[in-house]
Amino acid sequence: MRAYCYKFAKGITLYPTATGNLDIQMPRTCVRHTLKGLSSGLRAALENLVSSGGTEEQLVETVTAKDGPDGIARCYYYLHLFAERQMLSYGIIDNGCPWATIEPVSSQFRFNPGPVDPGRRWILSRFACLRRETDGMVLESPLAHGMLLIHAPQATLLISALGSANTTASLQSMVPEIPRAAIELLLGMLIAGGFVDEVPEGMQEAEECTALRHWSFHELLFHTRSRSGRHQNPSGGTYRFLHKIAPFPLVKQVNATETIDLYRPDMDALIFGEELPFSLVMEERCSIREYSEQPIDARQLGEFLYRSARIKQKLFTEHQELSRRVYPAGGAIYELELYLSVHACAGVPGGYYHYCPDLHRLERIEADALLIDALLRDARSASGLEEPPQILITISARFERLFWKYESMAYSLMLKNVGTLYQTMYLVATAMDLAPCALGGGDADLFAKVAGTDYLEESSVGEFLLGRKRI
Ligand SMILES: Cc1cc2nc3c(=O)[nH]c(=O)nc-3n(C[C@H](O)[C@H](O)[C@H](O)COP(=O)(O)O)c2cc1C
Repeated sequence: MRAYCYKFAKGITLYPTATGNLDIQMPRTCVRHTLKGLSSGLRAALENLVSSGGTEEQLVETVTAKDGPDGIARCYYYLHLFAERQMLSYGIIDNGCPWATIEPVSSQFRFNPGPVDPGRRWILSRFACLRRETDGMVLESPLAHGMLLIHAPQATLLISALGSANTTASLQSMVPEIPRAAIELLLGMLIAGGFVDEVPEGMQEAEECTALRHWSFHELLFHTRSRSGRHQNPSGGTYRFLHKIAPFPLVKQVNATETIDLYRPDMDALIFGEELPFSLVMEERCSIREYSEQPIDARQLGEFLYRSARIKQKLFTEHQELSRRVYPAGGAIYELELYLSVHACAGVPGGYYHYCPDLHRLERIEADALLIDALLRDARSASGLEEPPQILITISARFERLFWKYESMAYSLMLKNVGTLYQTMYLVATAMDLAPCALGGGDADLFAKVAGTDYLEESSVGEFLLGRKRI
């Protein structure tokens, strides 16, 4: 165990062509590279890279054994080319047993480990995350362009030891069962892969630039995994559950104890009437946290919901039931649901309701009054209100509607949808001269308790306050 073992990265396949060349098929893309005029030595080295792999020295030996010394430059040329195109993984192997491999996950992946300076101290990056994948443990980080596949528990031991700042010597005393050469290779891999940081003399933590200090672990991981670039996970509308799990229906069915049909405004009268001009609505829109003594009424609530959240048209496609609504939403899937905690609304008894966007009605849910109060209390403290809001609208997501089609970016898409709904509700409320205010952070567990939903299936992702404006 003295050097890294080179192999073709996961998913790369080689195809001999009819003209005697070799095609290299890149994983998850249609990209193929054709290698022409390969010598027999290079062909043998390529076979090694596909099967067991080899160190740089072994690969050069394989080439020169057949091509003579002329093959050395060619071998390095191709290794460099493969590395530049993220076609290689690098492993640590002890007596035929793999310990760890680093695989490229982005086009910016480069692996150039240098000798580990015995005097320097290293600590695991606070962004590094050790978890289980289908075929074993992996170490990943939103700051890294590669992913570490862990094959031996010794590698996990070393990673754990890097929970505090250590040199190679101090690591050796912490994990004496790991030979020094292996520590150096593993640490070299972690340093080159961007999984550990250097800790300066006299400090206990690595120094971070100002931009990085602002990021928390989960936010940076979410950012990198929901955007393309720093991962190779399937992303977008992949329909991974098609023919495996039935998609959630368009309209949520609620066990309502009572329903209240809501007022439907005459849209033609509004469109061709004397509504405020659009630019004025845009300019006037603001968050209002003060209410009049006289509460909002059922007619205003009906108009508000009709103009911001009703289903305008149902679309039955081959895969999923979709719809058209006033606010835009990714894939026209519309996973968001509205629940109303009514504290004060003339014509609507206080309580907890689900809004049915299809039938444009409120569906009363029997919920514990203390829990509804807790929701209203949270909203009050988030907005600095002295009184509970007249109406608290909690926006939940039926996640599976979106996750059924989209992968990697589904949650971020859902949050974007919350944004479009917020803005629509703000504008409608402004046009109606009501008091709107979005809220940023509610208790998703509390919501699930009140609404009686399964947290993983449907929980809250936003809140919105609505009331009659104080004049
Ligand atoms: C996503 C989002 C979250 C918000 N969260 C809160 C909140 O928790 N509490 C609050 O009082 N206002 C909240 N607001 C309202 C903002 O404070 C407000 O939009 C901002 O101060 C700008 O003022 P304006 O809306 O009057 O233009 C939120 C607004 C948005 C869009």
